[in-house]
Amino acid sequence: MKSKIIQFINKKNKSKIISLTAYSKNIASIIDKHCDLILVGDSLGSVLYNFSSTKKVTLDMMIEHSKSVRLGVKKSILVVDMPHNTYRNPKEALKNAKKIISKTKCDAVKLEGGKQVIQMVKTLIKNKIQVMGHLGLLPQSAKNFKFKGKELSERNKILRDSKLLEEAGVFSIVLECVESSLAKEITKTIKIPTIGIGASAHCDGQVLVTDDLIGLNKIKARFVKKYLNIQKQINNAVIKYKQDVSSGKFPSKKHSY
Ligand code: KIV
Repeated sequence: MKSKIIQFINKKNKSKIISLTAYSKNIASIIDKHCDLILVGDSLGSVLYNFSSTKKVTLDMMIEHSKSVRLGVKKSILVVDMPHNTYRNPKEALKNAKKIISKTKCDAVKLEGGKQVIQMVKTLIKNKIQVMGHLGLLPQSAKNFKFKGKELSERNKILRDSKLLEEAGVFSIVLECVESSLAKEITKTIKIPTIGIGASAHCDGQVLVTDDLIGLNKIKARFVKKYLNIQKQINNAVIKYKQDVSSGKFPSKKHSY
C-alpha cells in the first residue's frame, strides 16, 4: 500500500479528513493544498452535462476529466469513480480500472455498492489497485434519492456491507445520505475512515461536490452548504467586461500590442 494511503488511514481518530470533488485542473489546483483526497466523481454527469442520472457517464468522460484534474493535484490522494456498467464482473472491472489508472495516474478508484461488488473489489485489490468503497445512497443504481438507514433491515445491510468492504481491503468508504446514528455506528465499527456526504459529523471526514460548495451548481439539497456565490461574482465580472468593451475602455493601451 502506498505511504500516502497509509497516512490517510492513520488520520482516523486523529484529525478530520477533508475531501472534495474536482472535474478540471483549475479547480483541482486551488483545492489540492487544503484536501487530503480529491475525487473525480461521476456526479460530473449531472453537474456538467445535465444528465438525469450518473448512468450515462462513460469511461472516456471520466478519463478525460481525470487527466485534466491530475495536472492540478500535487499532494492529495486522487480517486476516480468507475462509472456505471464498467465493473459488472471481475474481468471487466480489472480491465477498466487498469485503463483508468494507466491513463490518469490516479491513486485509487471508487466503486458503488457492498456485497454485490465484493468480487470485483477483491480482484482489484489482489492486483494492487487501491479501492474506495461507497455505501448508502448509490446514485448509479438508486431508484430514489431518499436517505438510507431508516429501516432496520436496510441499516443491517449497510453495516454488513461496510464490514465486507473493509475485509476485502478497501482503504476508505464514502457514506452517502446515511442516517446519523448508522454513520456513527459504522465509523466506530470499522478501522478504515468513513467519508460522509449527507451522513453527519460522525464520519471521519467529509466530501462535497466543489461546484455545490462554491455555488456554481444550482442544487438545493439538505446536505449542501454553499460557502460562496460564485455565479454572482462571475455575473458581476462579465457585466463589467461588457460595459468596458461597449464603451471602448477595454482593451486599453496596457492590454494592446
Ligand atoms: O460522484 C460523486 O461526486 C460522488 C460524491 C458525491 C461522493 O460520488
